[in-house]
This record gives sequence, structure tokens and C-alpha cells, in this order.
Amino acid sequence: MSSKLIVALDVDDINIAESLINSLIPQVYIYKIGAYLFTAYGPEVIKMVHAKGGRVFLDLKYHDIPSTVANAVTEATKLDVWGMTVHTSGGFSMLKEAVKAAGNTAEELQIDKPLILGVTVLTSLREKDLDEMGINRKVEKQVKRLAVMAQNAGLNGVVAPAQEIELVRKNCGKDFIIATPGIRSKDAQVDDQKRVLTPREAIEKGSDYLIVGRPITKAPDPKEAAKKILVEIQNE
Ligand code: C5P
Repeated sequence: MSSKLIVALDVDDINIAESLINSLIPQVYIYKIGAYLFTAYGPEVIKMVHAKGGRVFLDLKYHDIPSTVANAVTEATKLDVWGMTVHTSGGFSMLKEAVKAAGNTAEELQIDKPLILGVTVLTSLREKDLDEMGINRKVEKQVKRLAVMAQNAGLNGVVAPAQEIELVRKNCGKDFIIATPGIRSKDAQVDDQKRVLTPREAIEKGSDYLIVGRPITKAPDPKEAAKKILVEIQNE
């Protein structure tokens, strides 16, 4: 069982999600649930993953005033998720409150504290988009700034695509977790990903977790597709 691979369950039907897990477990242990599936089914989908023996990376990218985010993080922690995401651009206080809420709730319930990972600059944004938002700097500079702030606020790590792995590793040290989307095996379809890395390249650059969606979920044989990626990860 490899825990370096996170499969993104970006599907619209809980039954499809369940049959994917049936074919991927026990090879794949962690499943990313995003706004798509969670908005449709809510906590039911988390319970389904747990019933199958998997863990959940709840990718709802919380971004609100600190107390609201703290309340949401408390509820997600009660659901015993493995990890969750918050938007680092919500600010230092919001991030600190999120970390505190996860820690307090986990302690109360005597469960493991879920990982809190930050989203820095969305991969869909370019320098021009930042400029429109009044942020007059290059994307990398903003990513670095937000990642360092996230670390100072106590976050466990960030979600960082291919081109940002080394930047985050260099500035946040070896213990800061990096989870990387945009992973494609050689010759695989790139979909809408702008820059991709192979599983092995991402691990070599310093990523801790690889987030893979369509190459597995849309594959004719998801189990085989996951197996191929796991072999590439293990051939470090
Ligand atoms: O492309 P793939 O299906 O493997 O995407 C997996 C995850 O990567 C998605 O759930 C999404 O969060 C993220 N993603 C991204 N940038 C894109 C497309 C997807 O970060 N352009």
C-alpha cells in the first residue's frame, strides 16, 4: 500500500466514486474529495471512503474570516479526514486559527490531527491575473511569499504544481509537505494541465504526495493505471 499517491475523485456520482475505490483499494489509500463531489453528497461521501478502508483529503480550499474557517476545520476534523486544504491568501490569522482548530478538535476526540495544506496561487492564474487583483509581482514570488507565511502560521505544507516544487522546498525546508497535481506518465494525455511532470520526476524534485485524477479515474482500467504510477513512484 503506497501512501504517496492521492487519487482525485473528480466525478459527479458517489456510485462511480465507490466503484473506483473498490478497484483501487488497497493499492491507493488516500482519496481527494473536492467541491464537486462534496457539494453533491456532503459527509456521506467521506463516510463511504472510510467504510472502504480509505482516508480522505478534503480539498474544499477554505477561505473566509478566521472564525468561520476555524468552525469549518473543526467540522472536517470531526469527520476524521486525513488532510484538508485552505487558501493561504485568506491571511496569517485565518491560517493560524485553522491550525489551532484542527489541533484542539483532534485532541478532544483523541484522533490524529488532520494535515492542513495550503493552496498558494491557483494554477489557472498568470502574472496578468495577479496584476488585475492588485498584486504586482511574478507568480513565483507570490507563491514563495504565501508558502513561507503558511509555514510560519503552522500549516503542514502546501499543494504545489510541478514548476513550484523546488521553490517551496528551498524556502520551506525538508519537513514541509508538498503535494503535487499535474502528474502524467510519459506519453499520457495532458488534459488541461499546463505543465506536467512524470511521477518519478515529481518525487525526485522533492514532492511528498502526488495527486492524480483523470489518468486513473478515466482510464479503461483504473487499477492498472494506478499500478503503473505506483511502480514509477517506487523506482525512485
Ligand atoms: O489533471 P488531473 O485530473 O490529474 O487533476 C488532479 C487534480 O489536480 C484536480 O483535482 C485539481 O485539483 C488539480 N488541477 C490543477 N490544475 C489544473 C487541473 C487540475 O491543479 N489545471
